[in-house]
Amino acid sequence: MTLVVVLLTFNFISNVQSIVLIKTPKQYANDFAESLKFQTVSYDPSDLEHPVNYTEFSRFLSFLETKFPLVHSNLQKTLVSGYSLSFKWQGSVTSLKPLMIHGHYDVVPVTPFGWDYPPFNGTITNGYIYGRGAIDNKLIVMSALEAVEALLFSGYSPKRTVYLNFGHDEEIGGPNGHKKISAMFAAQNVRAEMIIDEGNPIMAPGFLPGLTTTTVALGLFEKGYLYYNLTVNSAGGHGAMPPHESAIGILSKALIALEKNQFAPIEGISTLNGLVALFPPEVVKNNLYLESMTKTTTAVTMTRAGTKPNVIANQAVAWVNHRIIRGQNVSYVYDKVVEIINDTRVIITVDAGMEPSPYTDPNTQSFKLVKKSLKAVYGDDTNVVPSMMFANTDTRWYWNITDNIFRVMPVVGVYDDLATIHGYNEKISITGYVKAIKFYKKLILKLNICNGQGNPTNNQINNSDPDLADCDC
Ligand SMILES: *[C@@H]1O[C@H](CO)[C@@H](O)[C@H](O)[C@H]1NC(C)=O
Ligand SMILES: *[C@@H]1O[C@H](CO)[C@@H](O)[C@H](O)[C@H]1NC(C)=O
Ligand SMILES: *[C@@H]1O[C@H](CO)[C@@H](O)[C@H](O)[C@H]1NC(C)=O
Ligand SMILES: *[C@@H]1O[C@H](CO)[C@@H](O)[C@H](O)[C@H]1NC(C)=O
Ligand SMILES: *[C@@H]1O[C@H](CO)[C@@H](O)[C@H](O)[C@H]1NC(C)=O
Ligand SMILES: *[C@@H]1O[C@H](CO)[C@@H](O)[C@H](O)[C@H]1NC(C)=O
Ligand SMILES: *[C@@H]1O[C@H](CO)[C@@H](O)[C@H](O)[C@H]1NC(C)=O
Ligand SMILES: [Zn+2]
Repeated sequence: MTLVVVLLTFNFISNVQSIVLIKTPKQYANDFAESLKFQTVSYDPSDLEHPVNYTEFSRFLSFLETKFPLVHSNLQKTLVSGYSLSFKWQGSVTSLKPLMIHGHYDVVPVTPFGWDYPPFNGTITNGYIYGRGAIDNKLIVMSALEAVEALLFSGYSPKRTVYLNFGHDEEIGGPNGHKKISAMFAAQNVRAEMIIDEGNPIMAPGFLPGLTTTTVALGLFEKGYLYYNLTVNSAGGHGAMPPHESAIGILSKALIALEKNQFAPIEGISTLNGLVALFPPEVVKNNLYLESMTKTTTAVTMTRAGTKPNVIANQAVAWVNHRIIRGQNVSYVYDKVVEIINDTRVIITVDAGMEPSPYTDPNTQSFKLVKKSLKAVYGDDTNVVPSMMFANTDTRWYWNITDNIFRVMPVVGVYDDLATIHGYNEKISITGYVKAIKFYKKLILKLNICNGQGNPTNNQINNSDPDLADCDC
């Protein structure tokens, strides 16, 4: 008992310091580069040639233990499905709902060509760190852990519980990672104030035509999807005596009909999506990134038919991928497809479907705090607009856990960087990486200082630190 009191007093007196980052940018970069060397690649379970190498995943988890000793000794760690991580940093005020910071450390496979530096070497050159996962999504995992490590080093203890939840299979849909973490929270009746997960990268000026300021399209919602294949069977026959219509011909007509009869942009999308609202309709129509945000898209992704140049195919198959905009839904799109194809010889077999996500209300304190945290780190002139995440994320598993889901990749990029995320030469600047750390640090502090608490003080630390005395809520 006495010992405890002595320790507390000691803390109170000696730990008067501001919350600073504890490594130099170079050291942060080196540690991040090291994290990119682990080949934590997710392969589709149907890809029998490429089993997932879980040894690499285990080695990555051990690496985290050595790099983040304070996180591992102060937070409660739960390993889910063997490889996914949930860290709980208990807050002192249990009536405050938790903040959850989400990411994933699995990555997509690499194409061997096109890389200026090997994808799993973590090469640092000219101020950039190269490697698969540099953005998607070891960026979030590593920078959020660095932020908490720095806060712990300063002796900070939160009022609001903070969770760091990192999946290991997002790139194949998260069936064992975030789906199971979410089930764990549901079983414990945990409801979060907000979840922040990966999303659109922050847009540098010029990212889109006419964009003059740094802009964050903060993802408040994402699309649903419908994937199916179209199959046409026919009797086949000899190439010298062809039937009037072949399986390939019938299928081709269906595909052309789908491409010609695209889904129209939906009414009122610019009130939901402030990014679309920034541009004149002509610009939106002629930019694939913006246009995709206005409507359900149609993409023919794969076809297969025939075995020989002189033999008529018995079967022709095509795969089609729709991303469904908010306001429409799976059954609406399916019915529309049947109507457009208008040919019962074309058999539609659904592979997968998901409804569009709920919409996070931008008129909340949580939205404001994320926005202010972004502006604090990326500049006060940064324009943060309510928007849509262009792809799907593991947040699909959390619709029941919170009303407030935000999606953003805390890195400023140009349009061409988008292609590197699942392509080649994925990279981040050292300064960009350090900003991500500052962003999560700021967000954690904001969510502790604000949201009705209004009290910036924490007994153990220096209240003149600008981050801690930040009452701009
Ligand atoms: C408190 O924080 C301010 C601002 O960061 C700093 O200038 C000052 O040195 C700190 N005081 C102590 C005692 O650490
Ligand atoms: C899996 O990774 C380990 C190193 O983590 C390596 O030694 C092993 O060869 C890899 N296995 C395969 C099948 O590539
Ligand atoms: C791999 O990374 C190391 C350490 O950063 C670096 O010295 C080396 O040049 C890199 N190799 C290549 C081929 O990029
Ligand atoms: C699906 O969307 C259509 C078109 O917006 C709408 O008429 C229908 O009510 C929706 N159905 C469901 C189940 O939400
Ligand atoms: C659908 O196909 C039938 C013939 O199979 C044709 O009579 C009808 O006009 C078509 N409907 C549309 C909307 O094109
Ligand atoms: C079409 O999709 C279904 C459902 O995923 C699948 O069972 C079937 O094998 C696919 N068809 C072909 C020809 O691959
Ligand atoms: C969310 O809750 C609904 C209603 O209880 C349930 O049907 C659904 O399966 C839940 N979703 C998830 C992802 O757990
Ligand atoms: Zn990702």
